[in-house]
Amino acid sequence: MTSFKHALITGASSGIGQALALELARRGTRVVVAARRVDRLEILVERIREAGGLAEAWELDVSDPQAVFVAVAHWDRVLGGLDLVIANAGVGSVGPAHELRWEDVSRVLEVNFTGAIATLLAAKDVMLPRGRGTLVGVSSLAGLRSLPGSGAYSATKAGLQVFLETLELDLRPLGLKVVDIQPGFVRSEMTDRNDFHMPFMLEVEDCAVRCVDGMEAGKSLIHFPWQLSWPLRYVARVLPRPVWRLISSRFRP
Ligand SMILES: NC(=O)c1ccc[n+]([C@@H]2O[C@H](COP(=O)([O-])OP(=O)(O)OC[C@H]3O[C@@H](n4cnc5c(N)ncnc54)[C@H](OP(=O)(O)O)[C@@H]3O)[C@@H](O)[C@H]2O)c1
Repeated sequence: MTSFKHALITGASSGIGQALALELARRGTRVVVAARRVDRLEILVERIREAGGLAEAWELDVSDPQAVFVAVAHWDRVLGGLDLVIANAGVGSVGPAHELRWEDVSRVLEVNFTGAIATLLAAKDVMLPRGRGTLVGVSSLAGLRSLPGSGAYSATKAGLQVFLETLELDLRPLGLKVVDIQPGFVRSEMTDRNDFHMPFMLEVEDCAVRCVDGMEAGKSLIHFPWQLSWPLRYVARVLPRPVWRLISSRFRP
């Protein structure tokens, strides 16, 4: 059983978001699954209901902040209070800086950064008057240090990490919990597009169990797998820039 009664998850039409919805629903949470591909959401809702869970689908493009605020306020009202909101929607981008096009970079910023922040602020607005609730952002280990070809993606995840850490400082005294999920490589539509080696790859189901266990345990930072997270967190982050440049250039996609 879970302590979360009502959750809204963005980017739940595939990958990690879908697996989080299934895992939360399996533990008894009523989940609102949001994304742009409604056909995929409806299949997911059907699957959850057939297994005895409760779920609703909601078409949402997180790059439209107003739509995000409307969605969160709507479902908070309809369900009588959301106690968990997960800003998971994201898009990947890999390409060296000389090939970057503004259209692609701005899309990554709008979804991964602006969209996630709109989701978190919308959740804060509905939860703050009650003085309880959990706000979750799915960032990435890729936000911990630069990697060749990952400028836009890593920047959005680094920015999201700092935003989440600050949210926690500000909102924890007011009763809200804030969680930053930093996965390594997880098999999904996003990573299926990569043609480089992705060490210690996890399956989405495994990822979802780790995330929900961590949230249930009240962790504010959930990071895995340790084989990637620990070296990045405790070694790479403190290496001087010239040393990291030498090491990271070996990971060129
Ligand atoms: N897979 C990994 O290795 C990995 C590692 C670390 C962090 N992450 C993060 O985990 C999150 C989920 O990624 P994933 O691996 O599960 O990839 P995925 O299978 O491609 O899922 C991405 C989800 O985001 C949704 N999305 C994209 N643009 C959107 C928009 N404008 N509005 C609403 N939803 C949108 C997609 O749904 P629609 O297309 O239907 O809108 C989809 O449901 C992302 O934030 C990603 O950066 C992934």
